[in-house]
Amino acid sequence: MKTIIITGGASGIGKAAVELFTENGFAVAIWDMNETEGKALEQTLQQQNKKVLFIKVNTADFTQTQTAAKVTHEYFGSIFGLVNNAGVTRDAPLLKMSTEQWQQVIDINLTGVFNCTKSVVPFLIQNNAGRIINTSSVVGVYGNYGQSNYAAAKAGLIGLTKTWAKEFGRYNITVNAVAPGFIATAMIETVPSNVLEQIKSRTALSKAGSPKDVADAYFFLASESAGFITGVVLNVDGGLTL
Ligand SMILES: NC(=O)c1ccc[n+]([C@@H]2O[C@H](COP(=O)([O-])OP(=O)(O)OC[C@H]3O[C@@H](n4cnc5c(N)ncnc54)[C@H](O)[C@@H]3O)[C@@H](O)[C@H]2O)c1
Repeated sequence: MKTIIITGGASGIGKAAVELFTENGFAVAIWDMNETEGKALEQTLQQQNKKVLFIKVNTADFTQTQTAAKVTHEYFGSIFGLVNNAGVTRDAPLLKMSTEQWQQVIDINLTGVFNCTKSVVPFLIQNNAGRIINTSSVVGVYGNYGQSNYAAAKAGLIGLTKTWAKEFGRYNITVNAVAPGFIATAMIETVPSNVLEQIKSRTALSKAGSPKDVADAYFFLASESAGFITGVVLNVDGGLTL
């Protein structure tokens, strides 16, 4: 049984991914700061005889990601993949954005991915196989009003994806990014409804995506079927960027 780590797996897209991977024969380590939601999901899935482990981790802290990688490896015996899904928003137009808002998003959405990947990759190299999937965003490709911090971090993930595809290809490890459009999760609850309506009207499929739409893309990129795909950015946006 292959083991995959899903950061931010306690809610939203990450939770849908935890459910999808465990339903389809993966063992899953959920790394999330939200202990209440993470433990509840672990308990529900363990009652269904799924192989799952919750670890409370702040991905912005390298010491914590290193410990979590060791604990995951000891518990499951090997690690096949990592989905760098944890992310936050702290929106404001540039002139109103505080340095704290800037730094929090860079620390979690960019440095957090560096921390998790640096902690986990040695275990993938041991197997000479593996998958790394980074959650970017259409905002990282096209920019967005009020999201300097988020756009910078998500664009940075595209650079990391291509760099790591080159660095780790020799170990049979693929590295890809998913760029979701607007997905109906807690993250977009703060977006005003008129803005959401505008976004829907600009989307070819005329709707927001579901968490499972993005989880399905993670699952494909983690599968054997995607074995010769590396360094790509897969849009999951219903045609928002056409
Ligand atoms: N929802 C969207 O429209 C959308 C669009 C594009 C990209 N994304 C990206 O998809 C990913 C998941 O977003 P979501 O909508 O499911 O968000 P969400 O807020 O529903 O879930 C995010 C999860 O990450 C966890 N988390 C946050 N900071 C963390 C940290 N430092 N350490 C560990 N865990 C942490 C939270 O506890 C939460 O469980 C994010 O990277 C987000 O930027 C979302």
